[in-house]
Amino acid sequence: MKIGFIGLGIMGKPMARNLLKAGYEVVAYDIVKENIDAVVKDGAKPANSSKEVAEQCKVIITMLPNGPHVLEAVTGKDGVLEGAKEGSILIDMSSIAPHVSQQVAKACEEKGVKMIDAPVSGGEPKAIDGTLSIMVGGKKEVFDEVYDILMAMGSSAVLCGDVGAGNTTKLANQIVVALNIAAVSEAFMLSTRAGVDPQKVFEAIRGGLAGSTVMDAKIPMILDGNFKPGFKIDLHIKDLNNAIETGHDVGAPLPLTAIVMEILQNLHAHGCGQDDHSAIAKYYEKLTGTEIRK
Ligand SMILES: NC(=O)c1ccc[n+]([C@@H]2O[C@H](COP(=O)([O-])OP(=O)(O)OC[C@H]3O[C@@H](n4cnc5c(N)ncnc54)[C@H](O)[C@@H]3O)[C@@H](O)[C@H]2O)c1
Repeated sequence: MKIGFIGLGIMGKPMARNLLKAGYEVVAYDIVKENIDAVVKDGAKPANSSKEVAEQCKVIITMLPNGPHVLEAVTGKDGVLEGAKEGSILIDMSSIAPHVSQQVAKACEEKGVKMIDAPVSGGEPKAIDGTLSIMVGGKKEVFDEVYDILMAMGSSAVLCGDVGAGNTTKLANQIVVALNIAAVSEAFMLSTRAGVDPQKVFEAIRGGLAGSTVMDAKIPMILDGNFKPGFKIDLHIKDLNNAIETGHDVGAPLPLTAIVMEILQNLHAHGCGQDDHSAIAKYYEKLTGTEIRK
């Protein structure tokens, strides 16, 4: 079976490679040609536009930065909907605002194309391992039809509700991750300033109630001073923007999210937008003039 893949960045490349490993044919497109070349080396077929991808494939996956990119790739000139046949399925795996997922689904429906939103959690390491957590919004019959494809890239795929519910779930995920990185940064700065080795603090508390997947993934990076992305600060700003906007729409105040958003904005203003989000620790390092290191 042929699957179209549009958006071959940090996440898209390894996800497309896992589809190839699972035996699917992959037709690949990205606005950056080197990104297409990188997966063509592993057996994907190149395409010249999103339209061309959709002409060749019944199932099309998008993995793009944000809503405007998805709208452009799907509804824009030379986009998916110019090439897709009736009955095709669009799986948008990008993290975007839920109301934009619904807008894309409506445009798809008008052309007889089925759509689900299926953003992921787990970052580049789990994209490489094929163990992403996938949160899905859409109709059950469409979810069932593409379940095996999703499971070639992830270790779980949960249908959370109608279109948009996948991205609402992802926003909840991104709040937990951002606040958790800020919490561990604040706590590890305290111990560092107090003269207790942060490596020992990590060893001592990671198995207790304070331990978390976030702590296990991000504290080793912080202790090594390795802020190579991973998940970029600028992408997390995008997600918290979508979360705050959605929170206002549905009447859910997000005071802690707003504080961490300002920390991210500060880091962006200091040229750290392309760093991994573990660089939230750098905000605390600037406040104190002390680095959290082994
Ligand atoms: N990186 C992570 O750890 C991570 C984890 C979970 C979810 N996500 C989400 O997954 C999505 C992708 O993230 P990423 O880290 O791979 O981003 P990225 O910036 O590395 O990749 C995005 C790719 O999309 C391409 N692109 C942009 N507009 C396009 C268009 N109109 N047509 C075709 N290609 C286009 C870019 O050239 C780029 O290669 C984002 O929504 C992000 O929030 C990322």
